[in-house]
Amino acid sequence: MADTATPKVDPEIERRIERLRQALHEHNHRYFVLDDPVISDAEYDRLMQELIALEHAWPRYSSPDSPSARVGSPPLEKFETVPHTVPMMSLDKGFTEADLLSFDERVRKLLKTEEKIVYTAEPKIDGVAVELVYEKGVLRLASTRGDGITGEVITANVKTIQTVPMRLPSESRRQIPDLLEVRGEIFIRRDNFKRLNEKRAEENLPLFANPRNAAAGSLRQLDSAVTATRPLEIFIYNVSDPKVLETTSQADTLAALKDLGFRINPLILTRADLHEVVDYFRKLDEKRQGLPYEIDGMVVKVDAFRQQEILGSTSRSPRWALAVKFKALQERTRILDIQVQVGRTGALTPVAHLAPVNVGGAMVSRATLHNEDEIRKKDIRIRDRVFVQRAGDVIPEVVKVIADARDGSERPFVMPEKCPVCGSETVRIQGEAVTRCINASCPAQVKGNLRHFAGKGAFDIDGLGEKLIDQLVDLKMVRSYADLFALTPDVLKDLDRMGEKSAQNIIAAIQSSKTIGLSRFLYALGIRHVGEHSARLIAAAFGGLEAVRTAEKADFEGIEGIGPVVAESIADFFAQPENRETLDRLLQRGIIIEKALAAGEGNGNAARLAGQSFVLTGKLAAMTRSEAKALIEAAGGTVTSSVSSKTRYLVAGEDPGSKLEKARKAGVEIIDETAFKKLVEDL
Ligand code: IVH
Repeated sequence: MADTATPKVDPEIERRIERLRQALHEHNHRYFVLDDPVISDAEYDRLMQELIALEHAWPRYSSPDSPSARVGSPPLEKFETVPHTVPMMSLDKGFTEADLLSFDERVRKLLKTEEKIVYTAEPKIDGVAVELVYEKGVLRLASTRGDGITGEVITANVKTIQTVPMRLPSESRRQIPDLLEVRGEIFIRRDNFKRLNEKRAEENLPLFANPRNAAAGSLRQLDSAVTATRPLEIFIYNVSDPKVLETTSQADTLAALKDLGFRINPLILTRADLHEVVDYFRKLDEKRQGLPYEIDGMVVKVDAFRQQEILGSTSRSPRWALAVKFKALQERTRILDIQVQVGRTGALTPVAHLAPVNVGGAMVSRATLHNEDEIRKKDIRIRDRVFVQRAGDVIPEVVKVIADARDGSERPFVMPEKCPVCGSETVRIQGEAVTRCINASCPAQVKGNLRHFAGKGAFDIDGLGEKLIDQLVDLKMVRSYADLFALTPDVLKDLDRMGEKSAQNIIAAIQSSKTIGLSRFLYALGIRHVGEHSARLIAAAFGGLEAVRTAEKADFEGIEGIGPVVAESIADFFAQPENRETLDRLLQRGIIIEKALAAGEGNGNAARLAGQSFVLTGKLAAMTRSEAKALIEAAGGTVTSSVSSKTRYLVAGEDPGSKLEKARKAGVEIIDETAFKKLVEDL
């Protein structure tokens, strides 16, 4: 029976919902694609909350293209499949400049012309190909390439990506076609990838091999709430039917797509002749390592659709395009041995010792094999011939065994039952991939912990490197952190490769490291799951060591950005008597932990940045915007989207937007990432 208390329809509500959606779409685009927001984050949140509340109360007005859908939809049982209206073909591949020249020749021959061909040249993004279908300007469907004919439906996941427009701007000067299918590449930037893996390492989750795998894995989540936490981005490079935008060339199509709010790669070269394309290919290859995302080659496309049509396609790829791949950062070599390394957490990591090989300009003689399961999965054996690869900043790894090259001399690897360093039993906890040595005084763990303690982001002690730490531990001169601070030049000077002068320098460096910010100190302790980021959040929330020491799991969990795993680990750490003793001994040795400036008042919840308003622009190298925001807020500051007279600092990252100019005009203090980190680091 109809519910008489609430009318079935309410045009007023419907209009309000519609207006909110329009506004939020527009603000999203300004914020994420144009980097030029016009409202504050708080205002944005208010609009979003109002929309969510209305949609909740009025389910009849719910809509799959609502900006509220970015937070994730209910989990799926499995992925549906959908046929592509136009098959997603692959590209013909070339590897050298000569291949590029023959491609050009072939094109001219087929077009029966001596004239120069006009090309577009694009970076070939190493990500995951997707198709997005817009009906009357609204995103209705997103699918993977699949086998090219049929793809998997990943709409809910793709909607979580901020750079994917959910609705095309109706005020655009372009006519929005009834049906628009665009194609592009979803990827993860190198820095975000590194951070994602660091977080996973802290949480003891298996690491992604490279950004492409991470992007693919993130898109194949049945629960889009998981995808929403992954730093996915998109570049669009094509439409499936070139006629729909009423353009006549690839260059015009890219311009039209840009007008419609799609993100287009800024490095694309349009309307170029063959020589310019060759030159572009060289330059792209030179700078590929420095790009924020991975590319594996260049795609060159005949620009004019009229010519593309004449050229047509083979059964698998168009004749008007060529992917020229860069030389692979992957080489063939042989595994001479597999040895086990013991890390500071006691984790036993099998490492392949290789016949040295040059991979993309760097000599590689070792590759991580991650863990036992990984070795089984890839069936890696000692003396196997393998492909190794280097991807970005990642440790080299074995991609694949060349099984055909086996000659019978290969031996399987067996995980040792005893720690190869201290001889204690090793354990592998059920459900975990890692085998560990559980002897906390295992020299490998002590050395690893000391390296971490003295390393970057922690005490950062100049000159106290791996070799010296090894000697100090082997000679039993240092058994724990506190012992470092009792060293004198006299005892150091007789060690290997150490003179009087360098002994003095190291002791001076140790002494001057004694005054340290709380976040660095917490990070230095090497508490499992507590990385630099978590350490900063905890430091900002508590202000001083005493408060951290006496806090309980629930107190840590109460901190925005700290999850239950980290909370439990840190609470556990401070509950252990031997860890409390370590802390006491450090303090007795004269370690001074700098408090947050305004600590001492209340819970010390770092009023340090209280009342200070920040605006962020451009990309930060070491953290995402939301992490930067969390740090500022944890310290009592606020973040707004636009510069005003109330702004205290503008934090300018890489490629800053128009906010930088506004800040200059308004006389707002502009700080770069380094200065920003300093500001929040020692909280
Ligand atoms: S054009 C007809 N342009 O490379 C094929 N592809 O085999 C149209 N890719 O997985 C593809 N960047 O996802 C094109 N700028 C670009 C690209 C690009 C990356 C990927 C694409 C596909 C593969 C082609």
